[in-house]
Amino acid sequence: MSVAGTQHEPVDALVIGAGAAGLFYGARAGEAGLRVLVLDHATKPAEKVRISGGGRCNFTNIHTAPENFLSDNPHFARSALARYTPEDFIGRLARHNITWHEKSLGQLFCDGRSGAIIDMLVRELQAAGGELRLDTAIGDITRTADGFEVITSKGTIGCRRLVIATGGLSIPKMGATGFAYDVARQFGHTVINPRPALVPFVFEGRDKTDFASISGIACPVSASNDRAAFEDALLFTHRGLSGPAILQISSYWLAGEPIRIDLLAGTDALDKLTAFKAEHPKKSFASALETILPNRLVNLLTARGDVADVPRLADMSHAKIQEAVTALSHWSIKPAGTEGWRTAEVTAGGIDTKDLSSKTMESRMVPGLYFIGECVDVTGWLGGYNFQWAWASAYAAAQA
Ligand code: FDA
Repeated sequence: MSVAGTQHEPVDALVIGAGAAGLFYGARAGEAGLRVLVLDHATKPAEKVRISGGGRCNFTNIHTAPENFLSDNPHFARSALARYTPEDFIGRLARHNITWHEKSLGQLFCDGRSGAIIDMLVRELQAAGGELRLDTAIGDITRTADGFEVITSKGTIGCRRLVIATGGLSIPKMGATGFAYDVARQFGHTVINPRPALVPFVFEGRDKTDFASISGIACPVSASNDRAAFEDALLFTHRGLSGPAILQISSYWLAGEPIRIDLLAGTDALDKLTAFKAEHPKKSFASALETILPNRLVNLLTARGDVADVPRLADMSHAKIQEAVTALSHWSIKPAGTEGWRTAEVTAGGIDTKDLSSKTMESRMVPGLYFIGECVDVTGWLGGYNFQWAWASAYAAAQA
């Protein structure tokens, strides 16, 4: 970037990234008496908040606990999460008359549009005396005797504290960049391989054709591997598999591994199939299965040979029914990959927490440098956990 000549007034805290974490930090630091400037290269702030939760922002999860996050150091998030809780954020919404509802599994959504949260974040920043400057490209960062100097497309800005809140790599067309990782590396931090998470799986060959043929069909399942298991809906798509259970397990998936799907999760399948056989001995096993699973899925599973149909249930022994139940509850499929950054809801991996203070998010190597939000190697499950991390990590940094 060409060096823009203007030298702006220095600020106490310069925040790069006007997303959930950056705006929230700006307001809290402003309230603590710091002169804050928040910069973003986008023309609108917090666009991911806007599109989140289908436009209604699943802004937190009332069951938030450190166990709902992936990180190389599972204990890192503990302190920040304990000091800024879902109840704290709910209290803030009440003060802004933003109403909400619980959808399921502790997930809280706005009753209205997610824009209300963005308005709240921006209003709180401004009320605390902070400034928001959009459409600003960020160039080189250098350390100075009393802080940092940042070259931007609109001039050079000095600051005592530099807060990096530019998020992860998911959805590049929304302006996601690896900026935070570049800054981290510049100052000697390690970056743990960033990878797409909360992302649909894609398949190849016969699996792809098969799943595409029932695209739009959803059913409750348990999706698991050796590291995690999630009970929620699975959705067949034109490219493969999606739905909350799949997005959740994708965060724990390693390329080349199969995933296990229990298609009969929570159904008492053996009892139901046995009772159906007693009532309808002349009907087929497929018709019995159709009382539990969507018809088109049953057709596909029998056509693929994943489970064998038997024309008359009377001819099917209890052991054979049990065998079929076992096959359907241990359905193993190997994704070819994921949809990648294009649709990943978050980035797993990121700035290694070993060189950050879990109390303040400050770099242990470079005093005055902070990393907050999604760029840090703390990744939440689906369901409001990632925003709770954005609020909590920002709050922790602002208390420093
Ligand atoms: P965030 O990505 O919000 O903000 C980063 C900011 O930095 C952006 O404004 C960007 O423009 C700016 N930036 C990036 N690079 C820059 C550069 N080089 N120079 C200047 N500025 C730069 N989570 C959840 O808890 N509940 C939900 O309902 C959803 N739903 C959801 C839907 C979809 C489609 C996506 C993609 C994601 C979600 N998420 C979610 C995840 C959630 O949006 C995400 O974890 C948070 O927005 C992360 O907040 P941050 O502030 O860290 O980054």
